[in-house]
Amino acid sequence: QRALKAGCSLAPDQFVITSGCLEAVTLSLRAVCRPGDTVAIETPIFYNLLQIIEMLDLKALEIPTHPRNGISLSALRYALEHTPIHACLVIPNFNNPFGSRMPEENKQELVMLLERHNIPLIENDVYGDLGFMSERPGIAKRYDRKGLVIHCSSFSKTLAPGYRVGWVVAGRFQESIEKLKAVSNIATATLPQMAIAEFLANGGYDQYLRKIRGVYGLQTSLMAKAVEGCFPKGTRVNTPSGGFVLWVEMPEAVDSIKLYEEALRCGITIAPGTIFSATGKYGNFIRLNAAYWSKRIEQAVSTVGELAKAQI
Ligand SMILES: Cc1ncc(COP(=O)(O)O)c(C=O)c1O
Repeated sequence: QRALKAGCSLAPDQFVITSGCLEAVTLSLRAVCRPGDTVAIETPIFYNLLQIIEMLDLKALEIPTHPRNGISLSALRYALEHTPIHACLVIPNFNNPFGSRMPEENKQELVMLLERHNIPLIENDVYGDLGFMSERPGIAKRYDRKGLVIHCSSFSKTLAPGYRVGWVVAGRFQESIEKLKAVSNIATATLPQMAIAEFLANGGYDQYLRKIRGVYGLQTSLMAKAVEGCFPKGTRVNTPSGGFVLWVEMPEAVDSIKLYEEALRCGITIAPGTIFSATGKYGNFIRLNAAYWSKRIEQAVSTVGELAKAQI
């Protein structure tokens, strides 16, 4: 039923339950790549995904990503024509750190482009339920005709990361992913699955989503406003259409690693931009988390802004 809302008809036996989305992505990469293979990824991209690629001895090929349109299809097309690529990993809905939603026609074109090259697409949809608009965005899996799209997600961003309940819909790779999952840790714990199943069945999840999406929409805009008010002149912040993170570009003189260390000394945690790149880009960017908002957090944003100003 939930897949239908995302434009895709999927049967329960197509789902392999995993311990979170990161396990779903790890199993997917293990199923379609061998050590030394190259994975085309968006840049910037959530740092844990880069760590998984490194852990599996794979190479990351960074493809530029537009804050509104998602991964650049022309850059990907060029890369596919000039480099051996074995998989492509993207977060089409509310990418972390951009918060962008890839337009539906781009998702379809992405699937068709990779299909022409017979390359699996690993779709990470962990933020897909967290759009600020009422309509749930579609998933790339809906355009899959050849079983090449591997759809991964979890309840970590919507409910809580501690449940460790995720899933992968793996198309033609389902059997090998089931085997890899069984060998890795047999199965995902049943109790959290049962608790979540009950929450889904009694309508609690949808009710909660309706509330939390509005809350995140409000909090990201309040935090973005606070950044605009207290960060150095020339700072730019994205306007996400879902999720709860902000990507902040500061003047080039600001060193985000130094800023991270200085903020930490004041008891504030920010994510320095460089960890979102495999090649050390984004030295003057930071990612902020707007999942919570209070006077104390507003003060923390102001402190980070002052620390950034002091670097110029
Ligand atoms: C893009 C993305 N994928 C996966 C995860 C983690 O998912 P899980 O906790 O379900 O493994 C995160 C958490 O921040 C994320 O931002």
